[in-house]
Amino acid sequence: ALPHDMAGVRMLITAGGTREPLDPVRYLGNRSSGKQGYALARAATHRGASVTLIAGATTELAAPAGVEVVPIVTATELADEVGKRAGDADVVIMAAAVADFRPVSVAESKIKKGASGPAPIELDTNPDILRGIVAARDRGELGGTTVIVGFAAETGDASGGVLDHGRAKLARKGCDLLVVNAVGDGKAFGTDDNTGWLLATTGSETALPLGSKTLMASRILDAVGDLLGGSRSH
Ligand code: C5P
Repeated sequence: ALPHDMAGVRMLITAGGTREPLDPVRYLGNRSSGKQGYALARAATHRGASVTLIAGATTELAAPAGVEVVPIVTATELADEVGKRAGDADVVIMAAAVADFRPVSVAESKIKKGASGPAPIELDTNPDILRGIVAARDRGELGGTTVIVGFAAETGDASGGVLDHGRAKLARKGCDLLVVNAVGDGKAFGTDDNTGWLLATTGSETALPLGSKTLMASRILDAVGDLLGGSRSH
């Protein structure tokens, strides 16, 4: 790709995991490291895009130079920040691992061990942020947003349905591109390497060979660039 081929492109990227508090010291979380989202933010900046990175919990990652970083903790906060900013973005990449559920209530003080054993945790469903922005775009509410990218972390291998899950998820979410990666057994989460497939609503399916998350980022941005180019020339 050309250096600075994304000059002037406004990109909103989410990264890391959300944490859903139970009480002042405990939360429900996940194993996302944030590395793929940060790699995307760095690569997009190098290509000239202006990048806002909405960041949840990560392993200790330095803020990429030149990137506006907006910290969030919960899925609700992530949804609020994406809602505020998606209308100003040309590209939205949802690399964050968003908790599907949150505790119904957050205890004000530390939950004590009950005499009668563990207390059940009641959960509410978090909004699907990715589906929300696709729906908003389809209603014409996002103005400039042209390209929306989702991620799908699936357990299993290609023959074990990872690709089928990915195809179904692309259709369900309605985004333009879906990055499918196999997780579990030490794959993807927390590692520096990644592999998977890039599925597009155009029907194209590209295998992403095992490589660094930086390499993966540049493949993803190439595909985004193709879609931007297409929409700009029309
Ligand atoms: O359905 P699933 O969680 O596998 O979908 C993953 C994709 O959807 C990711 O791009 C993730 O950022 C996004 N997502 C979301 N809101 C949720 C759950 C997932 O935007 N509540």
